Amino acid sequence: MTYHFGAPPLDSLVEDHRVHRSLYTEPSIFASEMNKVFGGTWTFLAHESELPAANDFVRKKLGLRPVIVTRDRTGALHVLLNRCTHRGATVCRQDEGNARRFTCPYHNWSFDNTGVLAGVPIEDGYGPEFDKSQHGLGKVRVESYRGFIFGTLNQEMPPLETHLGVAARLIDEWLDRWPGGKLVVRRGTHRLVCAGNWKLVYDNSADGYHPGFSHASLLRMRKERYGGGVDMQWALGNVDEGLQTVADIGNGHTFIDQRAEIKNYWEQAAPMPGENRYEQIIRDRLGDKADAALDVVMGSGMNLNIFPNLLIIGNQIQVIEPQSVNLTHLTWYATALEADDLPPEVNALRMRLQEDFPSFGEPDDLANFEECQVGLGIPEMEWVLTGRHLNTGKEYTGPKGLLTGPVSDELPLRVFWREWKRLMTSTAALAAS
Ligand code: FES
Ligand SMILES: [Fe+2]
Repeated sequence: MTYHFGAPPLDSLVEDHRVHRSLYTEPSIFASEMNKVFGGTWTFLAHESELPAANDFVRKKLGLRPVIVTRDRTGALHVLLNRCTHRGATVCRQDEGNARRFTCPYHNWSFDNTGVLAGVPIEDGYGPEFDKSQHGLGKVRVESYRGFIFGTLNQEMPPLETHLGVAARLIDEWLDRWPGGKLVVRRGTHRLVCAGNWKLVYDNSADGYHPGFSHASLLRMRKERYGGGVDMQWALGNVDEGLQTVADIGNGHTFIDQRAEIKNYWEQAAPMPGENRYEQIIRDRLGDKADAALDVVMGSGMNLNIFPNLLIIGNQIQVIEPQSVNLTHLTWYATALEADDLPPEVNALRMRLQEDFPSFGEPDDLANFEECQVGLGIPEMEWVLTGRHLNTGKEYTGPKGLLTGPVSDELPLRVFWREWKRLMTSTAALAAS
């Protein structure tokens, strides 16, 4: 099939039960996605705990646009386009820090952390009509939900919490596992580089079909050494006879719920170095509350995928960062829970567990993403199948009225592509302010 970009032909590339390979390989589609998808919806940018104090900032990307997420002196959040209004240089060249102003190193124009142009050297050279107030940094619309900061260039988007919908309620459940606990993502990241299209990552994020095969060596090793109940053993065998489910939670967001498979979080946690000593300290300190504290060590049993780039997996946050049509960065942020009544050993154990899957499981996934990109380069083989359980009658209306299926259902792919197509064919105007 010859690729045509535009409104009607997308229908021939995205069907219910299959999508065309060019969606993963065509540079012009990628270029359009960076505007229409990453600019056209609420896109995750940062977590508030990365910039906790007044005047803190972090450097991120909205699609391919370099942006600075700032907190001004009053605590308000801003997302600034990292592009000097003089001749285009980036004004911020550090990943994070604390600054009231950003001074462009080229000719020293300086902007405050709300984007206002504050200083121009030898300003009279631009003549008497020059008005600094017209030359502030471009600004992205920003909202935050319970610490998760999102930006959009689409002024017509509904408020963030409305757009998240059911996903907002699931974020609540994810955050409220330890009442009063504050989530912090400043404890380190695991950075991965993948020679594959960014959508291969999202395709995998609610794919309950693959773990028993892709991660077989990890799962079998755990089973042989630590017994059958340990984390993710439910991914082995016929997963459609198990208790896990996938669901369409609206607006392109999807959810794998593994919680029904977990009878006792701490007992089923994967093994980790030094766990017996840490457990003893936690039990001595907390007494009756120790079991509940140990439970929050283990992953949540939830995979919550917020379209198009935020994956909340277990206790971690994974962010998809597209670089080009066949290059993607993936960053896993470890999370800690801060609460006066939680001993630091809980976070030490959480960190050991959060080192586990990105080290021993994610390389399996990355290898498959990269091999998909290689295979998808063959022009004569055009289609990627997305129709598993589309017509088997196994999908049903589950809790909260959500379309739900067995965990190997490719429903999440179909949900993704529906939202992707809606955005790619949208005529909504995108703009910075
Ligand atoms: S490009 Fe920034 S001051 Fe000239
Ligand atoms: Fe995987």
